[in-house]
Amino acid sequence: MSVGRRPLVAGNWKMHKTAVEARDFCVALAGLVDSGAPVDVAVCPPFTALQASSDALAGTEVAVYAQNVHEADAGAHTGEVSAAMLIDAGADGALVGHSERRAAGDTDAQVAARVRAGIDAGLLVVMCCGESIDTRRAGETEEWVTRQVREGLAQATAADIDRLVIAYEPIWAIGTGETATPDQAQEACAIVRAVASEVVDGQRLRVLYGGSVNPGNAAELMACPDVDGALVGGASLDPESFAAIVAAAA
Ligand code: 13P
Repeated sequence: MSVGRRPLVAGNWKMHKTAVEARDFCVALAGLVDSGAPVDVAVCPPFTALQASSDALAGTEVAVYAQNVHEADAGAHTGEVSAAMLIDAGADGALVGHSERRAAGDTDAQVAARVRAGIDAGLLVVMCCGESIDTRRAGETEEWVTRQVREGLAQATAADIDRLVIAYEPIWAIGTGETATPDQAQEACAIVRAVASEVVDGQRLRVLYGGSVNPGNAAELMACPDVDGALVGGASLDPESFAAIVAAAA
């Protein structure tokens, strides 16, 4: 973390929580996070719980991000949700290009178009990148992450800096309990920042680490100079555990 970049801790719930469960979580979280702390906090509920989460968090500093956004304004896209629809449901931001979405078929070109569409609509976009274990073992992490960041930012401009965040999430660390070491997280996040600097002001860009972040390892990961916060999966499903990670960032 560096002075000047406000940390961000976002909880990606993935396919967990009904609207009622989301509301209960948000009410509990609002009572646990210090609203004056110098850290941005967001939850990323499934589409069906966006409105309930946003209603429950009204008047708090906690933001609500969707887990994906479609690039088109409207049209024949069965099962997809536009940026305007997310905003209508109370979303402030959206994840784009999570590895679980890429595994389901989202391409680099779609990621680039979704970054553009989300920012144009007024959302904060968290673009995700990260390599598989095979790529890391082959020594191709830098090349992989460089390509994902370049292609993901293909439609971005310097003016997008305040609405853009990049999350580095090595696939081998997601949901596995195997966390990147602080050195590995720092090295990759520095690469992300350097590549993104071709488009935006890298010193202002927030780069998050994600992959088995928990209350026990969050502080040392976020202490890395190029790690400006965390994108948390499993440990974000419980309000106490998520609030402990937020406290570690603050
Ligand atoms: P875990 O924290 O469960 O490893 O998930 C990370 C992630 O994919 C967040 O987007």
